[in-house]
Amino acid sequence: MVAGNWKMNTTVDEGVALARAVCAAVAATRRVDVAVLPPFTHLWAVRPVLEGTGVRLGAQDVFWKDSGAFTGEISPAMLAGWCDMTLVGHSERRHLFGERDDEVGKKFVASLAHGLQVILAVGETSEERDDGRTFDVVDRQLDAVFAELDGPPAVDAWVIAYEPVWAIGTGRTATPEQAQDVVAHIKQHVRARFLDGVPRVLYGGSVTPANAAALFAERDIDGALVGGVSLRAEEFGVIVGAAETAASARDTV
Ligand code: PGA
Repeated sequence: MVAGNWKMNTTVDEGVALARAVCAAVAATRRVDVAVLPPFTHLWAVRPVLEGTGVRLGAQDVFWKDSGAFTGEISPAMLAGWCDMTLVGHSERRHLFGERDDEVGKKFVASLAHGLQVILAVGETSEERDDGRTFDVVDRQLDAVFAELDGPPAVDAWVIAYEPVWAIGTGRTATPEQAQDVVAHIKQHVRARFLDGVPRVLYGGSVTPANAAALFAERDIDGALVGGVSLRAEEFGVIVGAAETAASARDTV
């Protein structure tokens, strides 16, 4: 899977044009699940552009209540039925907007309850990594979500994105070995809890056409959550192409 998180970029018109360009750039894709995550204001306008292309639509965040006096928030009920997925727990939500682990868990559960697939982002800061606490931090972030669940989610209903905070928007990508190490740990942690219910795990943080293939060659990395480069359709298409090549290679092993 390769998902493009546009963050707070583009006007509605620019976003519609970008969505068209992305669809053209990934038209040859067969095996990779491609998604775009435009700002909320763009979702309704982008939806028809994606029709029939196989590219799926996601929201960058969601609130956990269905409706009510929550000024400025968007509920999963508002997205259900026409939007395919949500992203929860992105590090910018956690660190810039003070979102807590348990709130991320509530957003996760609310999305699933409305039939929306969820991408759950986890990852450590550079300080936490330097202190040797990377695994503890991702375990804590995952466990806070599991605490909100009654049982294991269907394996295709969720995706995890491992995004080291120090690699996001910094140009400082994790090495393929660093990313593989944490992604393998995440899968092990989920397996210990849900046995066969291990979802795909993506890597995110300064993924570019230059480093994508090496990341996707790692055994446990199942794709990417792309920020900055997702605003440039052709380069995003190159990353999707690298995932397509990696998926074919896995199939022939
Ligand atoms: P980046 O962002 O690719 O710009 O580093 C990744 C993300 O925040 O999902």
